[in-house]
Amino acid sequence: MECNYFGICGGCNLVNMSYDEQLDFKIEREKDRFKDIYLDDIDVIKSDDGGFRNRAEFRIFHKMGKIYYAMNSIDKKLLPIQKCSIVDKNISNIMDRFLKQIELNDALTKKFFAVEFLSGLNGDMLITMIYHKKLDTIWIEEAKKLQDILKVKIIGRSRKQKVVLSEDYIEQKLNIDDKEYRFYYKEGGFTQPNQKVNIQMIQWVGKNIIKNRDLCELYCGGGNFTISLSRYFNKVLATEISKTSIKSAKINCELNNIDNIKFIRLSSEEFVEAKQKIREFRRLKQENIELDDYDFSTIFVDPPRAGLDETTRKLCQEFDQIIYISCNPQTLYRDLKELIKTHNIKNFALFDQFAFSYHIECGVILKKII
Ligand SMILES: C[S@@+](CC[C@H](N)C(=O)[O-])C[C@H]1O[C@@H](n2cnc3c(N)ncnc32)[C@H](O)[C@@H]1O
Repeated sequence: MECNYFGICGGCNLVNMSYDEQLDFKIEREKDRFKDIYLDDIDVIKSDDGGFRNRAEFRIFHKMGKIYYAMNSIDKKLLPIQKCSIVDKNISNIMDRFLKQIELNDALTKKFFAVEFLSGLNGDMLITMIYHKKLDTIWIEEAKKLQDILKVKIIGRSRKQKVVLSEDYIEQKLNIDDKEYRFYYKEGGFTQPNQKVNIQMIQWVGKNIIKNRDLCELYCGGGNFTISLSRYFNKVLATEISKTSIKSAKINCELNNIDNIKFIRLSSEEFVEAKQKIREFRRLKQENIELDDYDFSTIFVDPPRAGLDETTRKLCQEFDQIIYISCNPQTLYRDLKELIKTHNIKNFALFDQFAFSYHIECGVILKKII
């Protein structure tokens, strides 16, 4: 991948190597990190070399009556850019047209501060325009015209204001092994940034796990893994802290006619309290969920960068099988040091979700030591 802003733009920071060289660098770094706890084979899932990000956020830079996209430069200044080489082709194709359409429109450009693009693999596109002003009827009128011209969905956001002009989600279709799954990706909910790698992550888990009894999932987001993994288990209980994500997860379940999953809004800390009967939750009662009715074999966790807290880590150790997806190898390493006291690592994978950056996603499957 080539980019005029390599070395200046703070968006990509692993820029002095070819794609394969940087991947090798990350593989060696992680082999070294985990060498005292895992020495077997590591599966590696590559990214496309450019055009791989399905969501992207840019600042809007105003200069002499014109507007530009901008990123933070490596020295933390605002850097105007004309294109971005890591965004997918749908976002890349619309970026220019979007600015051209609005640049002479005062209602749309005034106090326009940032923009977010969310793109589906089938071409659906959501654009969130973020402002430092109240969005009035004139803005709505002009934004609706823009929406029709660009054939996208537009949302306006400002302090304490969210204006949805048509829908606040995109439709995403993921082909997982032999089956097509439908998802609504709602604005504001978590979605994986690199969808092609995401599909391979889901398939990797499905291929390598032991499939029996019930599944318990924490940090489930909008059901990205839950929906297709549900076919391998009798029942699934999936939890997550975000209301927005739980709402999407329930919709995604209906979209795919799945009836063996219950999604419930509980933080991982709350789930531990519920499971250990330290606290009762009305939310569980309202949904008719009785934790003792589950016969869990497996726990699936995909926490944010901070990894697992101590109580959640301990809870994981009660399950026969642990599936751990991590976007931060440092906290994964810390957590695995504890988990291997009760479990063996069966499979390990690196998913290059974040090419041209130092980040890498990991997947680990562990089995209880009998
Ligand atoms: C890395 S995302 C993974 C989401 C999902 N597995 C996916 O693939 O899209 C982590 C998720 O954890 C949720 N989260 C953050 N802190 C949490 C907590 N303390 N308890 C439960 N969920 C939490 C976030 O809202 C987010 O959806």
